[in-house]
Amino acid sequence: MMYSKIIGTGGYLPEKILTNKDLEAMVDTSDEWIRTRTGIQQRHIAHKDQVASDLALYASQNAMQAAGVTQKDIDLIIVATTTPDMVFPSTACILQEKLGIDNCPAFDVQAVCSGFVYALATADMFVRSGKCRNALVVGSEIYSKILDWNDRSTCVLFGDGAGAVVLSQSEHPGILSTHLHASGSYSKVLSVPGSIGGGEIQGTPFINMDGNTVFKFAVKVLEEVVREAIAENNLQAADIDWLIPHQANIRIIKSTAKKLGIPMEKVVTAVNKHGNTSAASIPLALDMAVRDGRINSDQLVLLEGVGGGFTWGAALLRW
Ligand code: UT7
Repeated sequence: MMYSKIIGTGGYLPEKILTNKDLEAMVDTSDEWIRTRTGIQQRHIAHKDQVASDLALYASQNAMQAAGVTQKDIDLIIVATTTPDMVFPSTACILQEKLGIDNCPAFDVQAVCSGFVYALATADMFVRSGKCRNALVVGSEIYSKILDWNDRSTCVLFGDGAGAVVLSQSEHPGILSTHLHASGSYSKVLSVPGSIGGGEIQGTPFINMDGNTVFKFAVKVLEEVVREAIAENNLQAADIDWLIPHQANIRIIKSTAKKLGIPMEKVVTAVNKHGNTSAASIPLALDMAVRDGRINSDQLVLLEGVGGGFTWGAALLRW
């Protein structure tokens, strides 16, 4: 029996930090409102010349170094992003060239804030089937490019960043199970409804969100998908050593943990420093908890996320 296992993690956050105080000077908001409603204190913002593949490059190099692999070892690249460098080629192909890797499959996954869980689940299939040995799985986002900086209801919530893992063949599990869901009937609740046509942008190229509906849906489906993952593995919520949720809002994270009976000491949070980095948020939080020594060998780690589409999913791992 072949399994897949994460053997290295990496992250990258752009240098520039935008604090809630900075935002007070830009829109009608307050540090107090942002902190109490979301838990966010600051977020990182990419340089205007940076694109998603640039952030992905740094995160990938960190992950490959941690894994002890080089370019020649990587035989699959999947990038989860909602903010690709361009319409095509895919950000994964651009990243492949920047990394100096030649001739391995490379493609993007578009599942918004669940993108990393979708990408990891896809890579897991490739690795377990023997189709590839070492997959580079990346979440990279530059939401600062798709925010209307005059819209206080969205511009205070998001940040830029990238996280990456190397997923490799292993005789021991690794990824125990993955669980993916989508419901397109909610597509209008959270979207960037613009498109390119006839040489022009048609519609709105900025995030549009019904925050309250997203909030309620998120708390409901995140609890469901975590219960699905632990039931499939004949486990209890108490068996989970680390819950690594998508980092959108500390209130969503706390509500989900409370419903599951998982104490906050077992929940990794980074939303205070990163804001919501969409597909990058889970691998960034994972990398943080691996590097600061919280996640140790043999522990059970549960990743979960929800995002536009709606999409949602979870992955249960033995570290
Ligand atoms: O990654 C997945 C994507 N997104 C999410 O997961 C986000 C999910 N939703 C949320 O996190 C929350 O719904 C928000 C943080 C977006 C909003 O929090 P809320 O507690 O649901 O607030 P609300 O939308 O009910 O708005 C309350 C008030 C409104 O004023 P009125 O109508 O009560 O007078 C808003 O106009 O807060 C106002 N408001 C703000 N005030 C100051 C909205 N944005 C701001 C702001 N600063 N930035």
